[in-house]
Amino acid sequence: MKIEFYKHSVSQKDIDNAVGVLNSLFLTTGEVVSEFEYKFSRYLDCKYTVGVTSCTAALHLSLLAYGIGPGDEVITTPMTFIATANAIIHAGATPVFVDVEPDTANIDANLIENAITSRTKAILPVHLYGQMCDMKKIREIANKYHLVVIEDSAHAIEASRDGIRPGELGDAACFSYYATKNITSGEGGAVSTNNEEIAEKLKKLRLHGMSKGAAERYSKQYEHWDMEILGWKCNMYNIQAALLLNQLENIEKYWQRREQICEMYEEAFEEDSVVTCLKVLPNSKSARHLFTILVPPKRRDSIMGQFQESGIGVAVNFRAIHLLTFYRQTFGYERGMYPIAEKIGDSTITLPLYPKLSNEEVQYVIKVVKEVTTS
Ligand SMILES: Cc1ncc(COP(=O)(O)O)c(C=O)c1O
Repeated sequence: MKIEFYKHSVSQKDIDNAVGVLNSLFLTTGEVVSEFEYKFSRYLDCKYTVGVTSCTAALHLSLLAYGIGPGDEVITTPMTFIATANAIIHAGATPVFVDVEPDTANIDANLIENAITSRTKAILPVHLYGQMCDMKKIREIANKYHLVVIEDSAHAIEASRDGIRPGELGDAACFSYYATKNITSGEGGAVSTNNEEIAEKLKKLRLHGMSKGAAERYSKQYEHWDMEILGWKCNMYNIQAALLLNQLENIEKYWQRREQICEMYEEAFEEDSVVTCLKVLPNSKSARHLFTILVPPKRRDSIMGQFQESGIGVAVNFRAIHLLTFYRQTFGYERGMYPIAEKIGDSTITLPLYPKLSNEEVQYVIKVVKEVTTS
């Protein structure tokens, strides 16, 4: 059996929507983007969403919108995709890592205060694999030290914890519509916020700092635009938004199927003596973006190779980023500094998880995992 690591859920309706845009006059940022932004905000129960071309851009621009730059420190987790920490560096600031919780792999909110210095300006928690961090505690710390909170919600569109959703307690939440995400336009991203001034600033930052977007410039009598601030070029365009609209309508249906699959995996590995699963906390709805297992670190790479030989697509999300060459060389990080993130990074294997995965395929994955890990 061959089981792909990921298969997207782009439907004929999504394709028809994109073709509709391609047959129209306006391909770039226009009404379809506005419609998606409005509907995404409504889904999250957040006031504003600004569509961009990636979550990396969403993180970068959010930091800039809140005035974070050279000389500033931003607290984040080493157990994430490099985009999180890279965006801090792109903004000119310095990432400061805090270790993670062993059960969830999310940033350990109890360790954050120890990492705060006079230069700390923001906390950038990552809702890893789909489960939200302890946002109540993080907000409390941020209020105490007057820090901005920007949530990396690339994995967590559908998540909630203690009844709180992404973007609710954070000053901004950043999302990804990358090729393997829960809804996808191949590449894409957004920032959601309840702060109107920041939303307006983000609209400028995504388009060179221009005072008017293309739709405003060309849909009416021509009006001159001004450049008020220095911006970037990462505006979401209509073709991307068209692909996402109908996926957003179906987002809970897709989530339910992933939830079922995760429950099958969790039940199968509950009593396992070699394989461990991370925990979804009782008061938490995980967006179920990635399903990762932990195996003994010394055996991880060979186990992964055997999964692949059995036809199962796998990935590693993630090796602790402070150990990657650039981070070691630039910031002097060494093994031993964030031991829990390192252990998870050395032990983790991500299994296939997507709505199109059949029960038979899930059972095959479980069978192979058990056979390989007990051999
Ligand atoms: C946790 C996390 N943050 C940010 C990103 C960056 O997203 P994008 O590829 O849309 O820039 C990713 C991408 O996979 C991610 O996993």
